[in-house]
Amino acid sequence: MTIFSLTEAELRQRRSLKWCTYESDVLPMWVAEMDSAVLPAVRESLDAALDRGDTGYPYGTDYADAYRASAAARWGLELAPSQVRNGGDVMNAVLCVLEATTDPGDGIVITAPVYPPFWQVTSGYRRRTVPVALTAEGRLDLDALAEAFAAPDVTAFLLCSPHNPTGTVHTAEELTAVAELCTAHGVQLVVDEIHAWLVDPATEFVPTLSVPAAQNAAVVTSAGKSWNLAAFKAGLYIVGTEAGALLRNLPPLAYGSTGHLGAIAHAAALREGQDWVDQVCAEIATNKRLLGDLLHALVPGARYQAQPGTYLAWVDCTELGLDDPYRHFLKAGRVAFSAGQNFSPDHRQWVRINLAASPSMITQGVERMAIALRRSVESPRV
Ligand SMILES: Cc1ncc(COP(=O)(O)O)c(C=O)c1O
Repeated sequence: MTIFSLTEAELRQRRSLKWCTYESDVLPMWVAEMDSAVLPAVRESLDAALDRGDTGYPYGTDYADAYRASAAARWGLELAPSQVRNGGDVMNAVLCVLEATTDPGDGIVITAPVYPPFWQVTSGYRRRTVPVALTAEGRLDLDALAEAFAAPDVTAFLLCSPHNPTGTVHTAEELTAVAELCTAHGVQLVVDEIHAWLVDPATEFVPTLSVPAAQNAAVVTSAGKSWNLAAFKAGLYIVGTEAGALLRNLPPLAYGSTGHLGAIAHAAALREGQDWVDQVCAEIATNKRLLGDLLHALVPGARYQAQPGTYLAWVDCTELGLDDPYRHFLKAGRVAFSAGQNFSPDHRQWVRINLAASPSMITQGVERMAIALRRSVESPRV
C-alpha cells in the first residue's frame, strides 16, 4: 500500500494548521505536516490508552527506551538510560537547553536559511541571534562558523540535522569539525534531530552523538516529524557522555510538559514504525524526483537540487522575476508554499515545498505554479 494516497477530499476534512489556514481552493503545500494516515500501531496504542481511561500524567521511561532501541537498531548508536530524558515538545526542549547553557545577552549561532522558530528561540529570550550563512550548496561553512564562534559573547550553536529547509544531511566529517570548533571556543553544541529518520534510502544519517568529538553536545528530538505526530507533544533530551551535568542543570519545568498520550504515541511509532518510515522515505525520494522533473518541464526558471534529508524541497525562484514568489503563487496560482523570507531575510526569492503528499498533489502544485507564471505575463500586477 502507498502511504501518500489519501484523497484531497479526505485531507480537507482535517482541522489542522496545514489544511485550515488558507481558503478551500488553495492547495496547501507548506507547514511540515504529512498527508499520511495514522500508523496503525500508533492508533492501537492510543485506542488502548483511551479504553483504559489512561489520560493522566506521564510516568516512566518507555518513550526514552523506545528511542534508545531505535537509535541502536537504525544507526548503531548505543546510549545509556542516563543519557535520554523526556521533555516537552522539541522547540520547548531547545529553549530549555539554551536557557541552561547561555546567559541573557549571549550570542547564539544558527545557520541560515533555517526553520523559522530557530530565529525566535535565539532572539526572543534576551539572547542574540548570530546567523551564519550555509554555503551555496547548502553545506556548513566551517570557516564562517569558526569566525562566529571566536566572538567572546557567542556561547551556543543551534544546528538542525538533517537541515530544514535545505534537506542537507551533514556528514560525520562535518559534524566532527563542528564539534571540535565548539569545544575549542567553549561553545555549547545543541542539535535538533527531529528529521533524523527522514533520509533518502541511499544516504546515511549520522547522529551527532555517534561522533566521538561531540560528546559535549545536547540533542533534542521526537518522533513528531517522521510519524506525523505533532498533535501529540513529546520531545526528548539526549546528551553526550560528557554532557551529563547538562541534564541536571535544565530549568525546573523542563521535564514536566511531556504529554502522556504523546509519550505513548511516539514510543509506539519508534518501536513499531520503522518499516513504515522506510516506506515514507522511499515515497519521498520518488516525490523529489517527480518535483525535479515537473519543475524542469513546466517552470524551467525554478532552481531545485534535491537533497537527501527531510520531505521539504527548497526552491530558488530568482530567475522567475517575481516580486514575491510566495505571494504570487498563492494569489495567482492558489497554491501555498512556505515563504523563503521566514527562513532568512536573504531568501525572499525562495519557497519551501512540502513533499509529504501524493504525487497527484505535487503535480497539481507545480501546474498551479505554471498557471501563476502565465498570469504574471498576461497581467503583471496580479
Ligand atoms: C527542525 C524542526 N524542529 C522542531 C520542529 C517542531 O517540533 P515540535 O512541534 O516538537 O516543537 C520542526 C517542525 O517542523 C522542525 O522542522
